[in-house]
Amino acid sequence: MGTQKRIGILTSGGDCAGLNAVIRAVVHHAVNTYGWEVLGIRQATQGLMVRPPLASSLTPDKVDPFLTAGGTMLGTTNKGNPFAFPMPDGSLRDRSHEIIEGYRLLGLDALIGIGGDGSLAILQRLAQQGNLNLVGIPKTIDNDVGVTELSIGFDTAVSIATEALDRLHFTAASHSRVMILEVMGRDAGHIAISAGIAGGADIILIPEIPYTINGICQAIKQRQEAGKNYCLVIVAEAVRTEAGESVTLDSDVEQCRLGGIGQYLSKQICSRIDAETRVTVLGHIQRGGTPSPLDRLIGATFGVAAVDLIAEEKYDRVVTWQNRHVRSVSIREAILHYAAVNPEGTLVKTARGLNIYLGD
Ligand code: F6P
Repeated sequence: MGTQKRIGILTSGGDCAGLNAVIRAVVHHAVNTYGWEVLGIRQATQGLMVRPPLASSLTPDKVDPFLTAGGTMLGTTNKGNPFAFPMPDGSLRDRSHEIIEGYRLLGLDALIGIGGDGSLAILQRLAQQGNLNLVGIPKTIDNDVGVTELSIGFDTAVSIATEALDRLHFTAASHSRVMILEVMGRDAGHIAISAGIAGGADIILIPEIPYTINGICQAIKQRQEAGKNYCLVIVAEAVRTEAGESVTLDSDVEQCRLGGIGQYLSKQICSRIDAETRVTVLGHIQRGGTPSPLDRLIGATFGVAAVDLIAEEKYDRVVTWQNRHVRSVSIREAILHYAAVNPEGTLVKTARGLNIYLGD
């Protein structure tokens, strides 16, 4: 059984499918294998700023019903960096010491933080400052944490985007239209290229590969000339205009929201060739709903591995999925290695081999 411990777990950053599978695995392994106590901390690090901290004991029977549920049973936020926390009067305040104090008030021996690269960087800074025992678990539909081949949530997001293309296929063919599907992914094109190949897109646009409107129009015309009356386009939200401007929904400095590239492309295509276009923005649908079996599987694996790291008192590490195995690397290494789509990589070669227009 080892030493009795009390550990905390929190989810931070944007939610995604599969988070509850991680929480469930952590609770089962920590409680049943090691006999520890697990406290679920609500609303990411903000739950540790509140007095008393927003935390409650998690047991297997409490977490089991959430295995198939989307989102996170602990709540989360992708706003409010504790080192520059926005206050009601508009000022920014460093509230990191309150979080560290919250950890101590709960009497935690260790903390498991589930987050993307931004959240992991914040948690690591907190851990260093407060000497907290931290283990990280990577989650993000964007799949851009470079040290792991898979992050929680990515597989479900790709499944949803692929299903959207499958559905658009028929309506596109019925109306002889160019259907543009805009997907998330932040600065990386992983969702777009994976779903684009899986869903039979004709054009895949990702931020890592430049394109021209002319190239897109040529690809559509070639299809028309070959007797194909419709065209499926998938575009990642961070793709820029032809002139290189990013397309955003607002100008929030902390978390500026991408969106609108689909409409931009639609207008450009219609102004140059004889094609009817429609745009679908998939948005947060990619983050919700039942997690795929793979996200549950990776979630369970990461949860168990994170608890084992704590049992071995190996802190300041992130669990990763590499070559069919769960491993761990230092959090610093995880933050340093951002992974965009490799323009020379396998998926790009595959897409080109399928004659998909990717850019020039
Ligand atoms: O990082 C995950 C993500 O879903 C991105 O793909 C997207 O750009 C962003 O979060 C959306 O954030 P919000 O939930 O704040 O709209």
